[in-house]
Amino acid sequence: MQRSDKPLTLRVFSRNKRQGKKLAVVTAYDLTSALIVSAGGADAILVGDSLGMVILGHENTLPVTMDDMVHHCRAVVRAKPRIPVIADLPYGSFHVSPEDTVRNALRLVKEAGVNAVKVEGGRHRLEVIEALLKAEIPVMGHLGLTPQSVNRLGGYRVQGRGKKAAARMVDEARLLADTGCFSLVLECVPSDLATEISQSIKIPTIGIGAGAGCDGQVLVFHDMLGLFDGLSPKFVKQYANLGEQACQSIATFVDEVRQGVFPGPEHGYETDSAESSSPKDDGSGYLAGVENGKA
Ligand code: KIV
Repeated sequence: MQRSDKPLTLRVFSRNKRQGKKLAVVTAYDLTSALIVSAGGADAILVGDSLGMVILGHENTLPVTMDDMVHHCRAVVRAKPRIPVIADLPYGSFHVSPEDTVRNALRLVKEAGVNAVKVEGGRHRLEVIEALLKAEIPVMGHLGLTPQSVNRLGGYRVQGRGKKAAARMVDEARLLADTGCFSLVLECVPSDLATEISQSIKIPTIGIGAGAGCDGQVLVFHDMLGLFDGLSPKFVKQYANLGEQACQSIATFVDEVRQGVFPGPEHGYETDSAESSSPKDDGSGYLAGVENGKA
């Protein structure tokens, strides 16, 4: 797998907004997904708390802990993706106090090495966002359907419908931009409202279920690649069906093992009486002589 050699920083967000160039963000949760997202040319990686569902099997994002986020962010950063890595602050990590929020976010920066954090919510989050910015931690905002509010919202539904709700969201978007967020996720928002917000604030909006008028788009890795069988909202475009391909590959392997077709002679080793029969560790992480085609 090739790594992108074009290093990008968070400045790509303001630069692309200025130049009218759309931003493409994809989630990743481990080394392999981070390498794939980076090699695919995305502008940034979001280590979303969606990992609670697509990786950890929870029903929603609420149980995700700081330890879960640190663990997965570390794996993503180990891929050295050369594009900015943004981490979700999970539910409960920014609800107690600004001090507690900064302490939690610092773990993501210092222990995992992420470049920024994402905070769900509007006017009620301004105080913690200010505290994060004072601690030199860049913040991405998130309005519209904020999955961490699922209990208050009574489910996952489009937000900002109706004049009052729309005006409130425009107002909150301006507040987040004025407070210093470097970008803003708009999730499940009517397209015309998302366009209005995108045109009325200086920071780029990153839409998910918010139409083409946003300054960029984000999708969940497992959803867009057809790797997750759970709830698939209308806004998800599936670019591949890797889940089905993976199942078919496993089924073929199982069949070949049972039929004695795999392994073939090309997958085994020959004895060499002159040398030790046990492979030596060459220190590279591979056992000497066991790589594909070198036996
Ligand atoms: O957790 C997540 O993956 C997200 C994106 C869907 C925006 O918040």
